[in-house]
Amino acid sequence: MTLYDGEGAMPRELLLAGVAGVAGAITLLTDRVDEEFLDAAGPQLKVVANYAVGFDNIDVEACTRRGVLACNTPEVLTETTADTAFALMMAAARRVAEGDRFIRSGTAWIWGPLMMLGQDVHHATVGIVGFGRIGQALARRVGGFAMRVLYHDTARPPAEVERQFGAEYRDLDDLLRESDFVSLHVSLTPQTRHLINAARLALMKPTAVLVNTSRGPVIDEQALAQALRQGQLFAAGLDVFEREPEVHPGLLACDNAVLLPHLGSATVTTRLAMADLAAGNLLAALEDRRPPALLNPHAWERRTPGV
Ligand code: DGY
Repeated sequence: MTLYDGEGAMPRELLLAGVAGVAGAITLLTDRVDEEFLDAAGPQLKVVANYAVGFDNIDVEACTRRGVLACNTPEVLTETTADTAFALMMAAARRVAEGDRFIRSGTAWIWGPLMMLGQDVHHATVGIVGFGRIGQALARRVGGFAMRVLYHDTARPPAEVERQFGAEYRDLDDLLRESDFVSLHVSLTPQTRHLINAARLALMKPTAVLVNTSRGPVIDEQALAQALRQGQLFAAGLDVFEREPEVHPGLLACDNAVLLPHLGSATVTTRLAMADLAAGNLLAALEDRRPPALLNPHAWERRTPGV
């Protein structure tokens, strides 16, 4: 086994040199698994086990073509990521980070009726874009705040799921018009890149809060920075960025943007569970067992056992 234990993302040259000749690799969302990676690894590569539920860093089709199993870490981070989305909703609506910065600035203050007013979270309407595992886990949380739930997804879940959360389907534009909070829970694909652009931001209420714990490029950051500056929406809570780890300077300048360094799943318990699942995926593939979280079943069906 070779292990990279340096700080931050593994430099590309080290990654490409490190995977040469391996049977399996555990990758992070900062490691691009593309044709170049697969060429560098060589034909003996059996499995790429991503330490993340999101897998936009992996060219799954290329893996399938070469018979490489691709895996991710679903389920184990669902609740923790939904907690982060809810924390960002609360923080952005009630100006938590801004208030903290204000106190630390040493500015003189005294309680006043109009000081730092925010937006109510309880009894508001939340629009959940992407109603999969994490979107539904957020819906469960907001029920406790008596919030109304709207959702949008490309596929409608069974009616009992809608009933369970009291969730109403909307097309995306109507959801944006009606929601006080919009929380994004879609995978990054060519269809979802810049799903939230200037035109869609213009549909949102001036009192609305936008939260993103999915992938940065789902939002056009330039357009969001402008919308926040112009008061087109009240605030945003962002855990992910378009050109991560870079953050658009326009967002850094906005006091009404709460910004986190991609901490969605960052608790001790969840990161250990993700590590267990990624290792379990890797070992299963190496031992000719079907990995528990396999992304490309075709590659599994077409494999030659024992090779
Ligand atoms: C993921 O798993 O996709 C997150 O972005 C990191 O936990």
